[in-house]
Amino acid sequence: MEFTSGDVWFAVAVLLIATVVTKIAIARATVDPTCTRPLPPVVKGVALLGLLHALVTKDLPTVIHDLYEKFGSVFTVSLLGQKVTFLVGPEVSAHFFKGLESEINIGNLLNFTVPIFGQEVGYGVDLATRNEQARFCLDALKPSKLRSHVDPMLQEVEEYFAKWGQHGIVDLKHEFEVLLMLISSRVLLGKEVREKMFDEFCTLFGQIENGVNLVSVFFPYIPIPSNQRRDRARVKLTQILSEVVSSRKSSGRVEEDTLQRLIDSRYKDGRSTTEAEITGMIIGMLFAGKHTSSHTTIWTGACLLNSPKFLAAAVEEQKELVVKYKDQIDYNTLAEMDALHCCIKEALRMHPPSPVLVRKAQKQFTVKTKEGNEYDIPRGHTIASPTIVNNNMHYIYKEPQVYDPDRFGPGREEDIVGGKFSYTSFGSGRHACIGESYAYMQIKLIWSHLLRNFELELVSPFPRTDWNKIVPGPQGKVMVSYKRSRMSA
Ligand code: HEM
Repeated sequence: MEFTSGDVWFAVAVLLIATVVTKIAIARATVDPTCTRPLPPVVKGVALLGLLHALVTKDLPTVIHDLYEKFGSVFTVSLLGQKVTFLVGPEVSAHFFKGLESEINIGNLLNFTVPIFGQEVGYGVDLATRNEQARFCLDALKPSKLRSHVDPMLQEVEEYFAKWGQHGIVDLKHEFEVLLMLISSRVLLGKEVREKMFDEFCTLFGQIENGVNLVSVFFPYIPIPSNQRRDRARVKLTQILSEVVSSRKSSGRVEEDTLQRLIDSRYKDGRSTTEAEITGMIIGMLFAGKHTSSHTTIWTGACLLNSPKFLAAAVEEQKELVVKYKDQIDYNTLAEMDALHCCIKEALRMHPPSPVLVRKAQKQFTVKTKEGNEYDIPRGHTIASPTIVNNNMHYIYKEPQVYDPDRFGPGREEDIVGGKFSYTSFGSGRHACIGESYAYMQIKLIWSHLLRNFELELVSPFPRTDWNKIVPGPQGKVMVSYKRSRMSA
């Protein structure tokens, strides 16, 4: 999911055509008469030229932060006929996260996902059906259902690291990507896929993923090779999962995985989920969880191994748990890993895999800044909530540029003191991440195992963020040396 220079030129061409079309539309459109308060300041003229230059020379957070310093917490970037209004900071974010679906929603921004997840789910179906399907996924991943996933996840983790030698050097990025796919295939798709067709599943999922590029985002259905490979792979994956579903149904076999929960889900009218719907929902979850989880697992490691104080605290916590429970790790043991939890949460504050969340304003709305200024945001604006800046506000987080997991601990709890929407690495409100507990669970299992069984050292420089990726993550390899060293009770 990387953009090449060809993609960029193609995008420029598309944007130029869009500009002309939009200019004509704007010329015909009337100004929204319902806006009675001032509109947000607009980044234009020299500031716009400065922005275009900054986009090439600086990283995304710096660019947005510079605009925030200059224009305040609400501003509109008007470029090529598109109006994108940024809402920076928790005070102006409530409507973004909590507004009714009829007032603010994802619009057509995710239409390109229809051929990826299928016509039967997500943005291929009406809102009522989509909401019901979201409920199925939410139910399947809610904490009470996750308890039964600890053992299979732990087994995958132990088997994976058992293959490491006594000592060596590895690329954490590669290791965690493979391990998290093994965990997902086992816990989400079930043991049939994990045991009998893991390689085939990875190949097909890779082909579906490679179908996400700048061309397919604008033209999801044109017959280019990557779109065709994506479609063939989805058909094949649907076939594989359909066979698993039919075999479970005909044999009466019931498993403890997410696939089973989706098979057992029922719409309000009593209808069962179809095989195509189940496949679509599973692909959707894999997409939402794959890079977000692997990047967070890597950032957690890079941050920990770069901070002796917090590494020591996380190791100490594991020692105490080993004394208390020996090797036994279950859902409750994971819940006691507070220090590790804060280390992951802090890595995510500084390195959110979704650095900017977007919506479309379907109705005009008003925001009030912390300085008391009110603005009307007109219908039709694209609305951007920059998590990467919101998570780093100086008036909420003390020295936000410093990795300091203690900021979430007792007595400080900076994100809670800062108020709702101060920490949005998992989103919030209507579209809050449904996989948060699942994500913490797998990352804690991986890192608790590593801390209990290895001495580790970061041997490559601390990674920079790769802003060229759709889901920005650590750039390049993240090399770590390891030596086996088992913690004893
Ligand atoms: C550290 C890992 C993860 C991070 C940082 C993360 C982050 C997010 C964020 C920021 C959103 C909100 C998007 C928005 O408001 O537009 C979101 C939504 C979502 N996430 Fe996650 N996610 C993670 C893991 C997962 C996992 C493991 C799953 C599933 C297994 C998952 C499933 C979803 C789904 C289905 C949504 C859409 C919810 C909706 O639109 O109602 N995520 N995630």
